[in-house]
Amino acid sequence: MWFGEVASGGERHRSLAHCHVIVCGNEKGGSGKSTIAMHVSVALAKLGFVVATLDVDTRQKTLTRYVDYRRRWIDRSGEHLACSTHFVALEAPNGRSDAANRRAGFDEIRSAHDFVIIDTPGAYTAQSVFAHQQADTLITPLNDSFIDFDVLANIDPETFEIQDLAQYAGAVRDARRERRAGSGEIIDWVVVRNRMSPISSRNERRVHACMRELSMKLGFRLANGIGERLIFREWFQRGLTALDDVHAEAGAQRLSLSHLAARNEVRRLIEALRLPVDDQGRRRAEARRQWLSAAREPIRIPDIFAS
Ligand SMILES: Nc1ncnc2c1ncn2[C@@H]1O[C@H](COP(=O)(O)OP(=O)(O)O)[C@@H](O)[C@H]1O
Ligand SMILES: [Mg+2]
Repeated sequence: MWFGEVASGGERHRSLAHCHVIVCGNEKGGSGKSTIAMHVSVALAKLGFVVATLDVDTRQKTLTRYVDYRRRWIDRSGEHLACSTHFVALEAPNGRSDAANRRAGFDEIRSAHDFVIIDTPGAYTAQSVFAHQQADTLITPLNDSFIDFDVLANIDPETFEIQDLAQYAGAVRDARRERRAGSGEIIDWVVVRNRMSPISSRNERRVHACMRELSMKLGFRLANGIGERLIFREWFQRGLTALDDVHAEAGAQRLSLSHLAARNEVRRLIEALRLPVDDQGRRRAEARRQWLSAAREPIRIPDIFAS
């Protein structure tokens, strides 16, 4: 097996007929992949779905540590918090890769959960390529400085004009092609600006215009951004998220303003993902599946050569 279970989310019944895979990806470290993966998994577990998290960042294992801190917090406090069942990708023995085992291991996880959320490394690894090819939804957080645009495209610093596409955009294009050729399915790519400054800069509008242009060129959707808030780092160490009703400071009676603002931003992000979490989302997913299967059927034409 390539994916070892390290923590159980408890016994629950699945609600969805088809598992939905969400991948957090960006070839740059520190953009917020693991933070967002944790928040999305907690949001879905809180809604009552059976959720698996899968850490394929075998070097940093940030999501694995996050999940571990959460378990410890639960043990210490005795409070009930929604959790995912967590898996980590295991290194191949002698550095060998085994695509068939990886496929089988992943299919096993998929068959037992409503959602699988995969956190990927800031590097181009076989595990990361595999993960991207499984995505129904791909979330790419961008650190909200202009420097981070360069994972998607090279941009003229003076005119903000897009010069050419960069490596990560190419990797996503390849994953999409692979997916389309294999199962015929489409990856919904959502880019979210993370760690946005509270003070809007003079460049803000130009950055936004540039993002819109990029979104049309590369075929991604833009979600509302998430602000730069110190509280995210405090939550990490406690295994908590903006969605937990736990007071940031011991003894505090109310959630802080920063907590509430972060929670709203995360909720807006979840809405922007358009996941099959409600009737409307499920109908959308079903219509998409039907359309895809119809698109793969050969067109029926009357036999004009019949005698
Ligand atoms: N919106 C935010 N505000 C403040 N700090 C953040 C925010 N998002 C992430 N961080 C912090 O930035 C660091 C990198 O985030 P992380 O999720 O580990 O990124 P990645 O997985 O892309 O490497 C962590 O210390 C995390 O707590
Ligand atoms: Mg990470």
